[in-house]
This record gives sequence, C-alpha cells and structure tokens, in this order.
Amino acid sequence: MDNSKMLLSGSLAALAALVLTAGPCPVAAADKAPVVKENGVEAKSEVWGKYYPHQYNTWKETAKSEEIVDMVKKKPQLAILWAGYPFAKDYNAPRGHFYAVQDVTNTLRTGAPVSPITGPLPTACWSCKSPDVPRLIQEKGEKEYFTGKWAKYGSEVVNPIGCADCHDSKTGELALSRDYLKRGLTDMGVDVAKLEKKDLRSLACAQCHSEYFFKKSEETDAKGDKKVTMTVTFPWKNGFKGEDVEAYYDALKFSDWKHGISKAPMLKAQHPDYELFVSGAHGRNGVTCADCHMPSMKDGDTLFSDHQVRSPIDNIANTCLNCHDQDEQEFKDVLAVKLERKEQMMERAMDGLARAHLEAGKAWEVGATEEEMKDILQDLRHGQWRWDYSIAGHGSYFHNPEETLRLLGQAIDLAQQARLKTAAVLAKHGVIGYQAPDFSTKEKAQALAGIDMAKEIADKKTFKATLWQEWNKEAIANGRLNPESRKGMSDKASWSE
Ligand code: HEC
Ligand code: HEC
Ligand code: HEC
Ligand code: HEC
Repeated sequence: MDNSKMLLSGSLAALAALVLTAGPCPVAAADKAPVVKENGVEAKSEVWGKYYPHQYNTWKETAKSEEIVDMVKKKPQLAILWAGYPFAKDYNAPRGHFYAVQDVTNTLRTGAPVSPITGPLPTACWSCKSPDVPRLIQEKGEKEYFTGKWAKYGSEVVNPIGCADCHDSKTGELALSRDYLKRGLTDMGVDVAKLEKKDLRSLACAQCHSEYFFKKSEETDAKGDKKVTMTVTFPWKNGFKGEDVEAYYDALKFSDWKHGISKAPMLKAQHPDYELFVSGAHGRNGVTCADCHMPSMKDGDTLFSDHQVRSPIDNIANTCLNCHDQDEQEFKDVLAVKLERKEQMMERAMDGLARAHLEAGKAWEVGATEEEMKDILQDLRHGQWRWDYSIAGHGSYFHNPEETLRLLGQAIDLAQQARLKTAAVLAKHGVIGYQAPDFSTKEKAQALAGIDMAKEIADKKTFKATLWQEWNKEAIANGRLNPESRKGMSDKASWSE
C-alpha cells in the first residue's frame, strides 16, 4: 500500500471511530434522511413514497405522458435506414419514465421469447429501464447481469425508472447507480470520487440518456456451454463529438449490424442527449438537466424538486422563466422555429440516406463488386451515423441546435456522395437513371425492408398472453412487484389499436 492510501484509510478509520463513539444525537437524528433500505437496492418506488411523498407523487405524474407516437409511421424512411435491424419493426417517440418497462416489453424489437434462454436481444436491453437493474447487478454481479438473453430477467425487471435509479437506498442521496457510466467518465480523465452534487444533476440522467454500445465477450463454462456477455460500454475515450465517437467505433471495427439492403456495416446511435447538451449554450454555462426537467416547486412551506420529468414546453413558467425574462409565447415560438429547422434538414438527410441504401442494393443486384462498393458503404455508415447521433436525443434541436444542424449537413453530404458513387457503379454495370422504389408509407418501406409485420405482431400477442403473464405472477409472488403500482395503467403499443 502506498503512503497516500495508508493515510486515507487511516483517517477513514479515525472518522469511523469518531462516529461510533459519538453516540445518539437527537438533533442530527431528526434531520437525518430516513434509511429506505439498510442493505441493497430498494427498487419499488412506492416504498420510498412513504418517506418522500412530494417526490413520489410528482414522480407518479410521469404516467400522464402516455401518448404513443409511432415514429416509423411518421417517418417511413426509418424502416429503410434500419433494414435488417430490429428498430425497423417498431420505434416510438419517448414517453413518461413510468412506461419504460411496459414499452421495452411491448416493442416488437424485443420479439416474442418463449423461455429465459431465447432471444433475440441480450439482458443489456433492460439497462436503462428500471431500478431493478442496479438491484440485480448488486445481487448477482455485473458480469452475470450482462450474460444471457433479455428474457432471463423478465420476472426480475418489473419496476419502471424510479428512485433507486438516481438515489442511494441507504442514504437517500443523489447517486450514480450505474458503474458503467463511472467507467466512461474515468476513461475521459474525470475523477469520479470528486463529482459534486451539481454534476450529478446532469450525470444522473447521463446514466441512460447517453451513447453506449454492448461490448461483447465470450466464454465457455465448465459444462462446455458457450456464454455471451454484452456489457454496456461508453465510447467516450476520444470525446463527445459525433466524429470522436465514430472514430472510436471505426478503430474497434465495431458495427451494430449489416444493413439488410446496402450491406453496409452500420452503427445505431442510442440517445446521446448528454453528449450534445454539454457543448450547447446551456451546458457550457453550467445549467443542468434538472434545471429544466426537474425544477424546484413549492407546496406550502416545503420546497422540493418536481420529479415529473417531462418536456419543459409544458412548464415554461417554472423552468425557462426562472432565468430568462421573455414571456411564455415568445419561448414557444423560439422552440418551434428551432424544431422546424431541424426537421427540414433531417428530412433531407433521411431521404438521401434511404435512397442511397436502395441504390446500393440495386448495384449489388446487378453485379457490383466488393471493391466497387467499399467506399460507398463507408459513406453510408458515416452518413447515417451522423444523422442518427444528431437527432436520436430528441431534445438536441434545442439542447445544441448548431451541432445538430452541423451533423445533419454532413449526413446530407455523405448521402449524396454515396449516391454519386453508386450512380457511377450502376452505369458501369449498364444501369442508367435507376429510380429507387416508393418508400413513402410505413407499409411500403417495411415491405422493402423485408419485414413480416403480421407475424411479428401475432408472436408478440402470444408472448403477452403466455410467458409475460408468468413473469408477472412470479414477480408478485416473490415480492418484487406490487400489483397496486400498475393499477389503472393502460397497456398500449404502436401495434395494439
Ligand atoms: C431520474 C433521476 C431521479 C429519479 C428517478 C428520482 N430522483 Fe429524486 N432527485 C433527483 C435530482 C436530480 C434531485 C435534485 C438534487 C439536488 O440538486 O439537490 C432529486 C432530489 C430528491 C430529493 C431531495 C429534495 C428535493 O426534492 O430536491 C429527494 C428526497 C428525492 N429526490 C427523492 C426521490 C424519490 C422518493 C424518488 C422516487 C419516487 C426519486 N427521488 C426519484 C433525481 C431523481
Ligand atoms: C434509468 C434510465 C433513465 C434515467 C436515469 C433517466 N431517464 Fe429519461 N428516459 C429513459 C427512458 C428509457 C425513456 C423513454 C421511456 C418510454 O418511452 O417508455 C426516458 C424518457 C425521458 C423523457 C421523455 C418524457 C416524456 O414524457 O416524453 C425525458 C424528457 C427524459 N427522459 C429526461 C430525463 C432526465 C432529465 C433525466 C435525469 C433527471 C432522466 N431522464 C433520467 C431513461 C432514463
Ligand atoms: C438555470 C438557468 C436557465 C434556465 C432554466 C434556462 N436557461 Fe436558457 N440560457 C441560460 C444561460 C446561462 C444561457 C447562455 C447565456 C446567454 O446566452 O445568455 C442561455 C441561453 C439561452 C438561449 C440562447 C442560446 C441558444 O441555444 O439559442 C435560448 C434560446 C434559451 N436560453 C432558451 C431557454 C429556454 C427555452 C429555456 C426553458 C426550456 C431555458 N432557456 C432555460 C440559462 C437558463
Ligand atoms: C435549458 C433547458 C434544458 C436543459 C438544461 C436540458 N433540457 Fe432537455 N429539453 C429541453 C427542451 C426545451 C426540450 C424540447 C422539448 C420538446 O420538444 O417537447 C428538451 C427535450 C429533451 C428530451 C426529449 C423529450 C421528448 O419527449 O422528446 C430529453 C430526453 C431531454 N430533453 C433530456 C435532457 C437531458 C438528459 C439533459 C441534460 C443532459 C437535458 N435534457 C437538459 C430543455 C432542456
């Protein structure tokens, strides 16, 4: 042990002795936060609610944001852009935290498992949905948590994003529950032991509202069975810019999937809200996520943070106007203009990329070679990445409009470069003036992507009527799920009407 470590542990021991010998102190005891759970993680938010009614009652209000917006219907290009990847089947705009577990269960992306070992997706897909995740990681270890298929934890991950995602169950303090975020920060040179409360007001959100990928490792156990571990990993070593993260993935030769039409080695952005926010006007000036998404509010004499995490558009008076002196309507107009600018550029990027994939698909069909296609596929990979990275965090049009538009400009350029190069390849193989087929509706685009929606939906319905019922029964029997907590909750999906 080196000297500094010895010094530290020595002083900690001295401190512990002091605390132990100080005896009960009534004043401090009254001020002290209640212990929700002495050991381990309390994943049921209603248990916390007994001690913290204001935070609990406002947290429950996230259930009010319940509308499902089917993004593939709204932007059919998505089915082409994601052909060959589960997102092409089903992708909705985010809604209230209260629905996180329901939505990951209902989305066609998670398929229709029939047992704990059937896929298609890995356990890691639960990671940003529930405080049962830090509970499981603490109980089983991170490696075991990240090994196996999503259905392994169907009866374990049952409570939606709640108190223990952002607070320590013993002290009640704001705290990071995900070690993989701490590792991502450490990779960037941040000393996580020195993080302050103010940092946590954004980093609590960055645990989930960030870019990450599943790092794969394989092992054969004593019985000779192959075990695959997919660990959530932050790709931040080179920095937060779209190009920095792209360079990180390129160096690893990592891709999320091979495109179903163009065969390009693709990347899927998660939701880099945090990364784009940091270099925007508010991030640079020390404003935190909580300032706009969890502002202070008052009930009589009690001041507390509004735990109804939601769009600040519905709450301008209590967010923006704490710092700015415009009026509400002015701000609504500012936001509408920013959104419209992003939409315009985004549509162009998506159209260009979708056409580029379809044209590349045609080139393969008429006999293009790997060598002829290499550059084109790289343009598609990078172009789509920059589009996705700029808009997958749905608030980026406001959090960092310049960066969003800069990346979209690059995506448009790369899509057009891919198309020009493909036109030359097509011409070489005797095809002039090729027009990509019509992808203007969800049905047409999904047909081009080769998706059998009727089967996907039928399988999901069977899963909901069988295995999913078992999961819930088991979770209730084991005390992990309080059925009252779901009372009155509608069960909706993009496909359920
Ligand atoms: C998504 C993250 C997140 C979740 C989920 C969450 N909190 Fe908080 N909580 C925060 C943040 C951020 C603050 C503000 C901390 C600060 O700056 O002091 C906070 C503050 C608090 C405080 C301190 C007083 C206050 O209101 O500012 C209490 C108590 C609290 N939360 C309890 C809860 C309880 C109980 C739940 C579950 C019903 C919960 N929190 C869920 C992020 C969260
Ligand atoms: C444990 C992971 C997790 C944490 C921590 C988390 N979020 Fe989320 N957030 C999600 C997921 C997942 C969704 C989408 C839920 C759905 O659509 O079912 C979401 C949705 C949202 C939405 C959309 C809500 C709506 O009504 O449309 C906002 C805004 C948001 N989060 C902001 C935040 C902020 C701000 C913080 C930190 C205070 C935070 N989140 C912390 C995972 C998380
Ligand atoms: C905690 C304080 C704070 C809150 C809350 C806040 N802002 Fe700001 N805002 C700032 C600061 C600081 C700046 C940067 C300095 C400047 O330009 O005055 C800024 C800059 C801006 C800008 C100019 C930069 C740009 O991105 O175009 C706009 C527009 C803006 N804010 C709108 C909003 C809106 C809308 C909200 C509510 C959703 C809001 N602000 C909430 C502090 C705040
Ligand atoms: C200065 C205020 C402000 C700050 C600070 C801020 N946001 Fe936002 N956020 C907004 C506004 C305004 C929107 C756009 C809302 C809309 O279009 O309905 C938004 C949108 C979002 C959305 C998409 C919501 C949806 O339903 O589509 C998410 C998620 C989000 N923010 C997360 C975060 C996270 C995470 C942070 C911190 C890293 C953060 N925000 C910091 C103001 C802010």
